[in-house]
Amino acid sequence: MRLSTPTGDEAVDLDAVDLFDAATYSDGDPHVVWHAMRERAPVHRQVLPDGRGFVSVTRHADVSAVLRDHTRFTSKRGTLLSILGGVDPAANKMMAASDPPVHTDMREPMAKALSFAALRSRHPSVLGVVRRMIAPLAGDEPWDVAQAGAGFPMEFTGALMGLPEEDWPELARLTTMAVAPEDPSFGAEAGHGSLSAAHHELFEYFGEQVQGRGERDDLIGFLKAMDLGGRGMRADELVYNCYSLLLGANVTTPHAVAATVLAFTEHPDEYARLTGDRDRTNLAVEEGLRWSSPANHFMRHAVGDTELSGQPIRAGEAVVAWLGSANRDERVFADPYRFDVARTPNRHVAFGFGPHYCIGAPLARIALRLLFGELVRLVERFELAGPVAHLRSNFVAGIRSMPVRAVLRPGAAAELEGGSDVVPAPSR
Ligand code: HEM
Repeated sequence: MRLSTPTGDEAVDLDAVDLFDAATYSDGDPHVVWHAMRERAPVHRQVLPDGRGFVSVTRHADVSAVLRDHTRFTSKRGTLLSILGGVDPAANKMMAASDPPVHTDMREPMAKALSFAALRSRHPSVLGVVRRMIAPLAGDEPWDVAQAGAGFPMEFTGALMGLPEEDWPELARLTTMAVAPEDPSFGAEAGHGSLSAAHHELFEYFGEQVQGRGERDDLIGFLKAMDLGGRGMRADELVYNCYSLLLGANVTTPHAVAATVLAFTEHPDEYARLTGDRDRTNLAVEEGLRWSSPANHFMRHAVGDTELSGQPIRAGEAVVAWLGSANRDERVFADPYRFDVARTPNRHVAFGFGPHYCIGAPLARIALRLLFGELVRLVERFELAGPVAHLRSNFVAGIRSMPVRAVLRPGAAAELEGGSDVVPAPSR
């Protein structure tokens, strides 16, 4: 998705905008549309040719209000536009598609297993993944950061969940296909068929993974042993939650990586500011998350008649919260179209807001901090080395391909090739 800077003078016909169409994000300019919506129609209705409709909210305050309050806006009827008008079979079985108290019963123990403290022992293995991933920067060929990033979360989440390593490449492909079924990279399969094929294969796969495992010290083992108010998780609940965890990790994290590196190529002065003060790396990671907003939207349904920004919302209406727009809201962010590696405060909603706030945020932050800690330490500057191709999806603000070249610091090539024992500063 293009991360453009609207001038406010663009002619945007709000009756004609199509936020459902995946091509809006691969070939269009959604930031111009969202800017106009925040100004002129903060509560906007779109009806599709088949009669299905949805309300869009684009301001930070409305997005937060929708995500925060499950008593007004339920997650049980699906949380992605791809399910608009349908029935979510995962309702009350998968944490992401349930409301409290069912949601809380699943979330509380899972959140402990995925907390910063519980993941501390994983730092060395994630750093190992980071170093393998960036090693090609030492070579002469351009490095496709989007393609390298595509396998990045799979490696640390696959290990955490205890999934066999030989399955990781196919799992990474299937999870992307499940959120970007219309992307041409899925060739002849592209479209609704690829969405069902991806779901079918992933559910079958996790069905096999959760069956017949003895006690194991990994995340799937933990889910199997969890106590849900006096009972264990049923097989279908296990499958849905494994699916959700892997999808949550795989389809978002790569785009935070690629879009942040893209921002470094476009704002070399900001990158230089960062390399001049590496203590800012964690702030830069947060700005990269705000800037990229890898998850474009999340959906809810109004439980009863209500209102947002003074506009009535009818019971049962689908309400889509556009996170990418909220993260550029000039009501909350000073100079929102400026990429500022030291932005503080930075109240971005890239990980959502309220009870469903991303449970994988600690893991994602650990991985991104370790990755950018290494890049900022070793790379003097990045340069684009080819065209940037954007993913065709209304859910993931993704980059499919982005070749870059890195100008390395003295000694970095040897280190990347494994010729140095320099130990990097630990991430905080
Ligand atoms: C940069 C990386 C990531 C981004 C931008 C991101 C974004 C989000 C957002 C916006 C939500 C809120 C959904 C809602 O309100 O309905 C969410 C929830 C979730 N995420 Fe992430 N995520 C990331 C990484 C991860 C990782 C690494 C995992 C797995 C370990 C993960 C698993 C989940 C799950 C299971 C939920 C549902 C939580 C609940 O319903 O309580 N995510 N994520």
